Amino acid sequence: TVLVVDFGAQYAQLIARRVREARVYSEIVPSTMPVAEMLAKNPAAIILSGGPSSVYEEGAPRLDPALFEAGVPVFGMCYGFQLMAQSLGGTVDNTGAREYGRTDLHVSRSSSTLFEGTPAEQHVWMSHGDACSAAPEGFTVSASTDVVPVAAFENDEKKLYGVQYHPEVMHSTHGQQVLEHFLYRGAGLTPSWTTGNVIEEQVAAIRAQVGDKRAICGLSGGVDSAVAAALVQKAIGSQLTCVYVDHGLMRKNETEQVEKDFVAATGANLKVVDAQERFLDALAGVSDPETKRKIIGREFIRVFEQAQLEILQEEGPEVAFLVQGTLYPDIVESGGGTGTANIKSHHNVGGLPDDIEFELVEPLRQLFKDEVRMVGQELGLPEEIVQRQPFPGPGLGIRIVGEVTKERLDLLREADAIAREELTAAGLDRDIWQCPVVLLADVRSVGVQGDGRTYGHPIVLRPVSSEDAMTADWSRLPYDVLAKISTRITNEVRDVNRVVLDVTSKPPGTIEWE
Ligand code: XMP
Repeated sequence: TVLVVDFGAQYAQLIARRVREARVYSEIVPSTMPVAEMLAKNPAAIILSGGPSSVYEEGAPRLDPALFEAGVPVFGMCYGFQLMAQSLGGTVDNTGAREYGRTDLHVSRSSSTLFEGTPAEQHVWMSHGDACSAAPEGFTVSASTDVVPVAAFENDEKKLYGVQYHPEVMHSTHGQQVLEHFLYRGAGLTPSWTTGNVIEEQVAAIRAQVGDKRAICGLSGGVDSAVAAALVQKAIGSQLTCVYVDHGLMRKNETEQVEKDFVAATGANLKVVDAQERFLDALAGVSDPETKRKIIGREFIRVFEQAQLEILQEEGPEVAFLVQGTLYPDIVESGGGTGTANIKSHHNVGGLPDDIEFELVEPLRQLFKDEVRMVGQELGLPEEIVQRQPFPGPGLGIRIVGEVTKERLDLLREADAIAREELTAAGLDRDIWQCPVVLLADVRSVGVQGDGRTYGHPIVLRPVSSEDAMTADWSRLPYDVLAKISTRITNEVRDVNRVVLDVTSKPPGTIEWE
């Protein structure tokens, strides 16, 4: 394992991903973790991330210099580099000489461990106010910039390395190569970590955890729960039961995809609960978005727990485990870092006796989203599930502006299927984050179709590009693709006589309309 010590900001996660891209397993630990505890994890190498602080600031995160004496290879980046320089006796000046953004790096020793085979001049991404003016004793300076005399230093004997810039960001043109040089040449690691290893390891861990008891897993139709379930299924087979609640708010073919393709690919026990009528009844007469969301959430929990109760009452070993598709970013963001959880999830909503406790099984807790997709692919899940774009839990219920009825859902399902089909045919699935299709059920406009006047509903296309759904921009889709979608929807979907495009970014608009 390579430990990435997190000094704040967003850098540590990106570094951990880059290390894994180099096929070496990595984990993030907080900078507050005592060095003895880090070393107890027996790390093959340690990377010190960048961070928002200056080493001169009061209260800036520190590092126990014992880390550099332990014989473990260390690579410091940006703030991590400055900490290293300072603790090992180099000079870090608070000169006010700042460098932000793209900077030219002059490599003075192109045969060095870090820079072997990379050009003498390269672009790197900088973000610092302090600068290292003298390397610690025993270190060789291997690169500089116009502003900082020491932009990289290396000590092969002690296996300590550092760069002032951010090799992990893609604007540093040879960043990945420099990182790999540290891992392979500096630390002597071999690139052997793959998602295949993850599957093997997790299967063994799940078997050990669950033993001969049973587990249940809720499937939402999304990537994470599907991959988690497939992995657990591989480990414990028929001891797992998956529950899928069909609330009738899914898109065309989605329920079938779970019912047929998921089961075909995994052989899992699947309990599909048809709750369409129940949801429609509960939603009758409701137009307010927040009320709709609350009703859908409440009914979902009730139905799911009823299904759990039925499984608990079946003959067989005790059901003691609940499978969840928690990912690594969730764990890191909630301050978890590492450590195995043995969280009890207390289920006392709905019809369950309140003394039932499940232990969580979270086989994806070490993985990033793109790795989850790779694991899913390797487990043989169909492309439609593995590459699925985000889709809200309340489904089409929050894409009908107005009351939700069966008729309107069917209409929206048709329009949405056409839009998805044409976007896929145009090869645009990977270019957009998602494309909600919205029915303005309470709006009507006049049109002319065939030889008569129509008075139908508009459909809104909301294609967006985004990296994390926190902000988004509307996607500039090619006009001919938009034209094709519009023509097909107005021709093929009854009661729709207009297609409009949403050209609002987020903020101010949210991605969904409700
Ligand atoms: P908004 O509309 O807030 O959406 O810009 C941001 C992202 O979240 C998705 N979304 C949801 N996902 N349950 C979910 O699982 C929900 O209730 C929900 N509401 C919105 C939305 O599709 C977008 O990707």
